[in-house]
Amino acid sequence: MSSSDVWDAGTAARYDRQSAFMFAPDVLDPAVDVLAELAGEGPALELAIGTGRVAIPLTDRGVPVAGIELSQPMADELHRKRPDIPVVVGDMATATAPGEFSLVYVVWNSLGNVRTQDEQVATFANAARHLAPGGHVVVELGVPALRRFPPGQTAVPFHVGSHHVGFDTLDLLTQQGTSHHYWRRDDGTVRYAASNFRYVWPAELDLMARLAGLEFVRRTADWRGAPVTGESESAVSVWRKPA
Ligand SMILES: C[S@@+](CC[C@H](N)C(=O)[O-])C[C@H]1O[C@@H](n2cnc3c(N)ncnc32)[C@H](O)[C@@H]1O
Repeated sequence: MSSSDVWDAGTAARYDRQSAFMFAPDVLDPAVDVLAELAGEGPALELAIGTGRVAIPLTDRGVPVAGIELSQPMADELHRKRPDIPVVVGDMATATAPGEFSLVYVVWNSLGNVRTQDEQVATFANAARHLAPGGHVVVELGVPALRRFPPGQTAVPFHVGSHHVGFDTLDLLTQQGTSHHYWRRDDGTVRYAASNFRYVWPAELDLMARLAGLEFVRRTADWRGAPVTGESESAVSVWRKPA
């Protein structure tokens, strides 16, 4: 059984609206450009495909995309928009999607939803297993903002606005984290939701990829290719299955 939180129907129904900033062309287009180039003629497999934020525009670029997704309600939301995109409802660490892929990708921090090291290692192995020789794995994942934690502090804000406040709490020993969200509704009431994750350093990702038989290709700070530095709070990493 997966250690991941299972996203419920309410979360799935709200997802596209609440994540509107991640659907904005200046955020999404550079990601789709990189994935389309790596996929070539495809097909591509998205682990944790969600409601298809990335899979739909990538499909529209001519790359056939399939998905693995733990939450049936998230898969249902995707199929409400695009019934043609095949999804296996299951755990990205273990589920099998039929076919062999030129690209397997996991974006917007979704690898962190798998909350044990063993399962994250298994997710890399599962990604590699789905790849054709010479195919690529891409992971977009936050780098924990430990520089922002002064001694004694356990929470760090990632967004402070009039309608939403979000902060992360991290356990620096176990690499377990929780993102806390408070949304203010128009009637003045507040809704709280939390999601749990395991954070991973880039070096640990490289080791997991190596255990899966993958070769390092590159790491950038974003989808536009900005250089990754010790100050980067996110990274896009690419590995290749040897031909
Ligand atoms: C932040 S959303 C990202 C969705 C989509 N990739 C996107 O970029 O919009 C995280 C997704 O990961 C899914 N998820 C969490 N744990 C999972 C697991 N173990 N296997 C497959 N999907 C999982 C959630 O249900 C959710 O749809």
